[in-house]
Amino acid sequence: MSLVSTDRSVRALLKQGLDQLRAGNVASFTLAAELLLLHVTGKDRTWLYSHPEEILPEPTAEAYFALLAHRASGVPTQHLTGKQEFWGHEFEVTPEVLIPRPETEHLIEVALDRLAVREIRAGRQPRLNGENVTLIDIGTGSGCIAITLAKELPVAAVYATDISQAALEVARRNASRLGVSERIRFLESNLFDSISAPATADAPLLFDLVISNPPYVSLREAQSLPIEVREHEPHRALFGGEEGYELYGALIPQAAVHLKPGGLLILELGYNSLPAVEPLLDRSDWVNVSATKDLAGCPRVIAAERIPHRDHR
Ligand SMILES: C[S@@+](CC[C@H](N)C(=O)[O-])C[C@H]1O[C@@H](n2cnc3c(N)ncnc32)[C@H](O)[C@@H]1O
Repeated sequence: MSLVSTDRSVRALLKQGLDQLRAGNVASFTLAAELLLLHVTGKDRTWLYSHPEEILPEPTAEAYFALLAHRASGVPTQHLTGKQEFWGHEFEVTPEVLIPRPETEHLIEVALDRLAVREIRAGRQPRLNGENVTLIDIGTGSGCIAITLAKELPVAAVYATDISQAALEVARRNASRLGVSERIRFLESNLFDSISAPATADAPLLFDLVISNPPYVSLREAQSLPIEVREHEPHRALFGGEEGYELYGALIPQAAVHLKPGGLLILELGYNSLPAVEPLLDRSDWVNVSATKDLAGCPRVIAAERIPHRDHR
């Protein structure tokens, strides 16, 4: 028996889709049904709501119902459509990378604000184009942070690392599609390991900005994660260890070594990581430490400045 109702109008299919996803307890079921219908039709949202009576071909409706069944079984919408928007850009998403989250956009906001403040303090116009800025995104995943910053700061030198070769392939494709592949050096690396051999001993590669959204979920919380996260997103991108915040303990001292004096460190935090992470920003290495809350009121980003004058170890 066909799953497709006799009414293959856009309105009826949308209603059938959201009824099916609601019955399957899918979060944001209206948005998911819309995105899947847009995906199979190749249209945009304006078209969807301005053509409610349009009758879709049976194969299109069948394809839509197949996607709804996958979504109801727990597959993330982004794995079915292959994309997610971040900072107004469309990123390819596969099961090899974390799906970019809206809260990570706070990291970009804080980075751009802090870089502008640095310009003002240096007596320059806060006309941010990334001149004299060398930055690195640690754990780039889809590349959403590095690529967004490369686009916002068109003359910055951008590096991006990940421990996952498969993730880096996705990031490289995103950089190419978004027109910044010439601007970003992607490196397979465990944190800063591939950076630790500086270009030359006389001119080590030091950064003005180290930015990262590291894995920070506690393994103890694994079972409480929604099925679409627990079973479909890469565990290496999710889990920081038994407590969740373990990677910060390695990342922060390495960042101190790789930042220029006065350079910026900007990190995303788990909803409860601040009390564990803030003390790692030892006042002998870091100044101007501040946390920024997300829209839900959780401290989501921590930013700090490497003390302005100190010999590198
Ligand atoms: C939370 S995801 C963030 C992905 C992306 N930056 C974003 O914000 O959507 C963490 C990323 O760090 C990578 N990763 C995990 N451990 C790492 C390590 N020791 N060194 C470098 N990257 C690591 C994972 O493969 C994953 O892509």
